[in-house]
Amino acid sequence: MKKVLVIGAGGQIGTELVFNLRAKYGNENVVAADLSEKCPDHLAGGPYAKLDILNREAVREYIINGAFSDVYLLAALLSATAEKNPDFAWKLNMEGLFTILDLAKEGYIKQIFWPSSIAVFGPTTPGDHTPQYTVMEPTTVYGISKQAGERWCEYYFNKYGVDVRSIRYPGLISYTSLPGGGTTDYAVDIFYHAKQTGSYTSFLSEDTALPMMYMEDAIRATIQLMDAPKENIKIRSSYNLGGISFTPKQLAAAIAKRIPFSIEYAPDFRQAIADSWPNSIDDTAAQKDWGWELEYDLQKMVDVMLEHVEPSKLFNKSSTSIS
Ligand code: NAD
Ligand code: SER
Repeated sequence: MKKVLVIGAGGQIGTELVFNLRAKYGNENVVAADLSEKCPDHLAGGPYAKLDILNREAVREYIINGAFSDVYLLAALLSATAEKNPDFAWKLNMEGLFTILDLAKEGYIKQIFWPSSIAVFGPTTPGDHTPQYTVMEPTTVYGISKQAGERWCEYYFNKYGVDVRSIRYPGLISYTSLPGGGTTDYAVDIFYHAKQTGSYTSFLSEDTALPMMYMEDAIRATIQLMDAPKENIKIRSSYNLGGISFTPKQLAAAIAKRIPFSIEYAPDFRQAIADSWPNSIDDTAAQKDWGWELEYDLQKMVDVMLEHVEPSKLFNKSSTSIS
């Protein structure tokens, strides 16, 4: 029987991942951990622990005593927030990974999931259908930390046999919780504004194409990768995952097919980050190695988001996470 720990569980991915892992392994076998003292409401269906991934000794003690088989390490600063605090972003995104990799190397964890990102690519990478193996010269601190993380994951697998698995997620779109400060956050934010006011000002320009994915697909991919037989996992750095590729203009048009909606554009510092990332991703390796298949296309994703987004979640906050 698996015993699972999700660190950084209170965020955009963790909220839905914990729910799905609990449905699969039983509530009591999946511990959600994050920084807050009190368990967030949406994680209340099972055990919760206050854990700071930067407190290496506390994390080691908790994992060794808890006898966890699998650890999902989600705590990180995302691209836009990381650019505002590069030193701390590097510290958080790297130190936590070493703590978990070392515990697995010592035999205290059987399997690790650690997410990478399309941010590992840079302006010199071919932008269309970006291949698995290609030029990677990221220009953001977030991308540099993810690229370095990928190298270390592969190193720990090759040298120490650590069973670490990873996906280069595209921008993720969901309604359960707000995104945590990424460059792709506009594609979530837009739905709250569409339902509340019928209009939105995008911080990316109209023709900025980026790879995106509806969260249900991303969670399914994550669980599928973790379930795959060890011998099928040929890539121990991180798997490309393509999803759907669209621009703010195309997303706005898909929303306007369903409700009255208008969009304006006021690109800010996030435009340069987006311009350095691919437009679309080739994920044939994930399809071949562990059977990855996309379910949500643009209109299907738009329809489910429009149905479920609750504008009060964003508009009742004193500030948006998308600042
Ligand atoms: P998020 O910002 O929504 O959530 C991160 C969570 O980590 C937050 O709940 C935060 O409180 C927690 N956290 C921060 N510092 C911590 C610490 N010191 N100890 C413990 N917990 C801490 O992020 P997310 O969107 O859920 O992303 C999770 C992971 O997936 C990150 O590694 C991110 O880089 C990666 N990723 C996300 C996306 C996306 O579009 N959301 C895309 C690519 C990769
Ligand atoms: N969605 C993430 C970001 O924009 C990509 O890793 O930071």
